[in-house]
Amino acid sequence: MPRMPAVEAAPLANDTFLRACLREPTAYTPLWLMRQAGRYLPEYNATRARAGSFMGLATSPDFATEVTLQPLERWPLDAAILFSDILTVPDAMGLGLSFAAGEGPRFAHPVRDEAAVRRLEVPDMERLRYVFDAVRSIRKALATSKDANGRPAGRVPLIGFSGSPWTLACYMVEGAGSDDYRLVKTMLYARPDLMHRLLDVNAQAVAAYLNAQIDAGAQAVMLFDSWGGVLADAAFHDFSLRYTRAVVAALKREAEGRRVPCIVFTKGGGGWLEDIAACGADVVGLDWTTDLGRARKRIDDRVALQGNLDPAVLFAPPDTVAREARAVLDSFGPAARPDGRHGGHVFNLGHGISQHTSPEHVAALVEAVHGHSRAVRPRPR
Ligand code: CP3
Repeated sequence: MPRMPAVEAAPLANDTFLRACLREPTAYTPLWLMRQAGRYLPEYNATRARAGSFMGLATSPDFATEVTLQPLERWPLDAAILFSDILTVPDAMGLGLSFAAGEGPRFAHPVRDEAAVRRLEVPDMERLRYVFDAVRSIRKALATSKDANGRPAGRVPLIGFSGSPWTLACYMVEGAGSDDYRLVKTMLYARPDLMHRLLDVNAQAVAAYLNAQIDAGAQAVMLFDSWGGVLADAAFHDFSLRYTRAVVAALKREAEGRRVPCIVFTKGGGGWLEDIAACGADVVGLDWTTDLGRARKRIDDRVALQGNLDPAVLFAPPDTVAREARAVLDSFGPAARPDGRHGGHVFNLGHGISQHTSPEHVAALVEAVHGHSRAVRPRPR
């Protein structure tokens, strides 16, 4: 694929997120929200209606740029995340993705037998060009956009992302979301050879996909292992973490003269924290079942942590949201350690924001995270 020139290097007005990922000192704790562009925002629903469908949004760089910026225009979030979906990769493999209204994703051609697994190939990245075009378009818009007060608050880093090889395999074999993962686990236990072949193709595809996002201008990347937590201990290591590690090892780690941090998020992965933290990522994302302070001790700040407010907290009144946000910040504790080293904390939810969330409550969250973390930082001498 022809290489497009990277976006003209515009200086980042706000690199707090990148600094926290790399465990460098910051003036406050940065935050962004998983699924920050989504159905809880009326302006997202309006753009989605114009685009006709979710895939209509995701495959149009103009629409994808518009909705990526929507949450940043409302609040001073510290990062933008590419508007797309993890299922674009299996779609490019020919599985036929669709999102029926009111239902989750569905594949027309799930991978259920030996012949289907043997047919799988790393897709030509040209088929995902719309994603890389969106990355370039969002970077351009971030370099020039202003927030409601006319400040260049949009000048925050852009996060690219992909599903992990295992999480993609769940959708590819099940053909949709699942309650019990019966089909994908049947293949894993009955035909581990087929599952390994599938995961190997996925790992190569995901690495190529993330590297192409980095080439297009993504300044950090995140791997969503949303369903790693449904696996038995040994299976998690053999079928999920092993392939996550392979992806991380194949990633470009520098672009535009800066390190490109890599975040690995395993929902339900708290019990494997030490192993996940050793996979080569700069940041480990945690859900709300793990205490951040104890997590820090377990990994001795060898990586930064991202998380981990329960998204359900946002259903409570703004005062409660603020109190719970402060509790998450306090559980992490001061980033600076007595021994001179630094931890890193990126505030986030422990999973995606619900479509039933009130935007006013998000305002309270952003204010509490920025305000409280600034107030408890030691004053610079
Ligand atoms: O964070 C962001 O703002 C970026 C956009 C983003 C989307 N999906 C947009 C989206 C990201 C990072 C994802 C990741 C994703 N997609 C994951 C991993 C994170 C997680 O939630 O565990 C998974 C498992 C998927 C698969 C997926 N896509 C499902 C299960 C669904 C349907 C569920 C739902 O909420 O309806 C989607 C659709 C989807 N992807 C929506 C959005 C905003 C809602 C679709 C709509 O507008 O109708």
